[in-house]
Amino acid sequence: MDIAPLYIVLAVVSICFLVLQIWASKRPKGLKAIPKASVLPFVGDSVRLFKDGPRLAQERFEKLGPIWESWLFGERMFFVAKADMLKWCLNKEYDAVESDWPTSTKVLLGRHAVATAAGEHHKLLRKILRPPFSVAAVNDLMPRMADIARRCCDRWATQGRGKGLMFAKDYTFTIALDIILGFDESLLTDATIEGCTEAFAVWNDGLFSFPINMPGTAFHKAIEAKKILMGYLDQNLKLLKEKKRKGLSAASKGEQASCAEGLLEVKDEEGNGLSEDELKDLFLTLLFAGHDTSAATITRLFSELPRHPDVWNRLVAEQQQVVAEHGAQMDGAAVKAMTYTDAVIKEILRLHPIVGGVFRRALADFNLCGYHVPKGSKLFLNLGHAMTNDERWEGETGDLALPHFCPERWLSEAGTRTGAWMPFGGGPRMCLGYLLATAEIKVLLAVMARGYEWRPVDINEPFGCFPLGGHPTNGLPMDFIKQPQPRV
Ligand code: HEM
Repeated sequence: MDIAPLYIVLAVVSICFLVLQIWASKRPKGLKAIPKASVLPFVGDSVRLFKDGPRLAQERFEKLGPIWESWLFGERMFFVAKADMLKWCLNKEYDAVESDWPTSTKVLLGRHAVATAAGEHHKLLRKILRPPFSVAAVNDLMPRMADIARRCCDRWATQGRGKGLMFAKDYTFTIALDIILGFDESLLTDATIEGCTEAFAVWNDGLFSFPINMPGTAFHKAIEAKKILMGYLDQNLKLLKEKKRKGLSAASKGEQASCAEGLLEVKDEEGNGLSEDELKDLFLTLLFAGHDTSAATITRLFSELPRHPDVWNRLVAEQQQVVAEHGAQMDGAAVKAMTYTDAVIKEILRLHPIVGGVFRRALADFNLCGYHVPKGSKLFLNLGHAMTNDERWEGETGDLALPHFCPERWLSEAGTRTGAWMPFGGGPRMCLGYLLATAEIKVLLAVMARGYEWRPVDINEPFGCFPLGGHPTNGLPMDFIKQPQPRV
């Protein structure tokens, strides 16, 4: 048999393959190729990113520059770590990039989650979700938040010794269930809160994991936990709808409605409301996005402030001034006047970024500050690295040195200039709840400064990088104390 034709076919196929490879790797003249990190394919940085993320980014940045290629959860990924590049990407949502979370996150958040929606669907969801998160809506919620903060502080003080991480979660979870999801009182029992908290923790652990749905994997456990969480959200939705039907909702009673109640009222141009599945996926996103993030920030404050008594004294002094000018009531105007408290929150979010990075996918080939990013590439936008290396304070020594906790930097001239501070992301996907998040943290700090204190057992307890925002290795045991006489 003559095998020459077979050789010819093989030769043609090989040449085509070679040409295709050259074509695919072709980049426009003048643009740089993105350097590769030497890592194992598939696994890459999946483990180290969550164990030692900030140091890993620093090492790669020094060796490879502001953008490098590695692998994360089985996917090839470009890591971007410089402020101007990050801002460009965040602002080019819909045109050059779109949000692209790892498969595990997409599955666990659900089809209708705003965080995973893209294009027109995302624009529509943002429009729908905006009103309950506006300045006016958040201002109206301040007194209710202050009530929750006082109740939580009293409860912790009665308990005496507890873990700071658990106190922070108690506060933000109560806010999430009450103010964000409008949980009915009949559902706010200890058993429900405990069940919800447990299921949430398991679900959260699987959010960034290998998407292998087999008994024993974090992903599988998270899928099972999601069923439990959805059960609670379903019960809540039924109760909210029933109240609405009977004219008993907060809105019909003229009270401040929760974000969830606001969503029940939403209608499109044809007068259609959101479906039950859409509502439940949105509720779950809000619970995910709005609970652990704020709790991690508060835990960092519980740890950082006792090491900086000067900062604490200024916080207390600010409350004395605010109460003198606005009275004891914590409304929008009073909270707005807490400018030093604002600086403290900005600083904690800079020094300990809660969301280390966000995920995107290139919709087209583009030039990212001189580097060629091919269409279809996955990007990890490393917000944390940019913030902790903000060029405004590069080379500073003393209090203003970048590794120092120094709220005063935000009151200096450099602090008013634009820089790399973006804990809430930016562009069309900027955190929807950033006003609510800063308000709830400010209100808690204000309540504590007016009449409470806490003493961590180990003032230098270290934090790990994972889960989200980093947790103290032992949960930060502390004594929580109510002042015999309020300070303010
Ligand atoms: C300190 C607390 C918080 C931090 C650091 C934070 C950070 C972020 C960041 C960085 C993003 C951008 C994600 C991206 O670009 O893909 C985001 C999105 C989001 N956040 Fe927050 N967040 C916080 C609190 C909250 C709260 C309290 C809520 C509301 C209940 C909330 C709701 C959301 C939602 C719904 C999104 C998705 C937006 C979208 O994809 O369009 N967040 N958050």
